[in-house]
Amino acid sequence: MSTTLIKGGTVVSATGRVAADVLVDGARIVAVLEPGSTALGHDLASTVDAVIDATGKYVIPGGIDAHTHMQLPFGGTFASDTFETGTAAAAWGGTTSIIDFAVQRTGEKVQDGLAHWHELAAGNCHVDYGFHQIIGGVDEDSLAALPKLIDEGITSFKMFMAYPGVFYSDDAQILKAMQISADTGLMTMMHAENGPVIDVLAEQLVKQGKIEPYYHGIARAWQAEEEATHRAIMLSHLTGAPLYVVHVSAKQAVAQLATARDNGQNVFGETCPQYLYMSLEEQLGAMSDEWGGFEGAKYVCSTPLRSREEGHQDHMWQALRTNDLQMVSTDHCPFCMKDQKELGKGDFRAIPNGIGSIEHRMDLMYQGVVTGQITLERWVELTSTTPARMFGLYGTKGVIQPGADADIVVYDPNGHTSIGVDKTHHMNMDHSAWEGYEIDGHVDVVISRGTVLVSDGEFHGTKGHGSFLKRGLSQYLI
Ligand code: URP
Ligand code: ZN
Ligand code: ZN
Repeated sequence: MSTTLIKGGTVVSATGRVAADVLVDGARIVAVLEPGSTALGHDLASTVDAVIDATGKYVIPGGIDAHTHMQLPFGGTFASDTFETGTAAAAWGGTTSIIDFAVQRTGEKVQDGLAHWHELAAGNCHVDYGFHQIIGGVDEDSLAALPKLIDEGITSFKMFMAYPGVFYSDDAQILKAMQISADTGLMTMMHAENGPVIDVLAEQLVKQGKIEPYYHGIARAWQAEEEATHRAIMLSHLTGAPLYVVHVSAKQAVAQLATARDNGQNVFGETCPQYLYMSLEEQLGAMSDEWGGFEGAKYVCSTPLRSREEGHQDHMWQALRTNDLQMVSTDHCPFCMKDQKELGKGDFRAIPNGIGSIEHRMDLMYQGVVTGQITLERWVELTSTTPARMFGLYGTKGVIQPGADADIVVYDPNGHTSIGVDKTHHMNMDHSAWEGYEIDGHVDVVISRGTVLVSDGEFHGTKGHGSFLKRGLSQYLI
């Protein structure tokens, strides 16, 4: 086993920052020491196998992206990142664990969907990975399978109030699944949008000839998000199920979550970088360009981008500060323009939903520190510590302390990152919704369980290094 000393940096946690050296032995952190400590009677730097100089830099726990979709089947195609390409991109961006979504659809057995996801990921990942379980078909069989997931290390499942005919669950199905969630402690994750209402609005728009990507966001009105969020909260209240609402983008949905939390409910919410930075107005602007009005397809995701005029983006930042929202995940769901997004050229409903961001989450959220939206500590909390606690990984992940996995990022606040397909892009996509974003900060070194994956602008990872994470129940419940 080899030893590494990360020396001279500022160790940042969710609760504070301290000048300290971090000693790694094999895959674990074994000590957090006073800078230059000679507590053991000698200068550690001269006896360890490797020294990483972190002078002037932040030393943070590796990012945990708790919402990704590698190879997700959607709209007649598949998300374009494999577990291999997507986890390499994650590592480049300072994310050392992901939680992806195994898929079960109507008529399929949960166990089969899960086994398939294990096949896709095993031996292919560069960073550690866990799974949530999508229940796309709630029936007696899938309900019976839910409690058994806990022994498999899968302690959360997602249902959809959107996408009728695909992944959709009605209220009766949701109620039954939530009763099991309440009994077992499994976290219910919810895609909270009123799908039937959205589908009618979308059909009406298309009939009026409004077929461009921008109308995706018009059909998916914030009222549909607020209403579904409220309904999910009420069903969680009725059953006692812990509820985690994914990809929140409407300020009205945040207000629903805040009220429920004020009432003492175990209700949580995540947002994603796109809802902090991008807007419906930008998507409108992309209607008249070289793509013939279609460039807005790169912004098509659900929930959709919201109007900046209505102030949703500022409200999301505020909710992150006040803990009305607890986490930032990417909902990484990449599709290329060519042959994928293009499927919806004549009808926005056929555009596969999703944006690729796994590589940029740590940088984009650090930009919130630079602009004063969040503190340094909150950056770590939102991107690593809370994801670990929320999804049963805390202690081994999400923190720099003795005994934890040595998942560590050395982040240079004086570095710079220019995001662009030809610059810093390792995701398997032919475009980036983040093209042209400039970040004051840089992911310098990325370590996963003691192994350096990225340093000096070079990738040293090997596929298969990433291990499956058997998760415990949430450590975040009140
Ligand atoms: O646009 C999105 N979010 N695509 C992925 C599927 C989902 O609903 O998370
Ligand atoms: Zn969703
Ligand atoms: Zn998603």
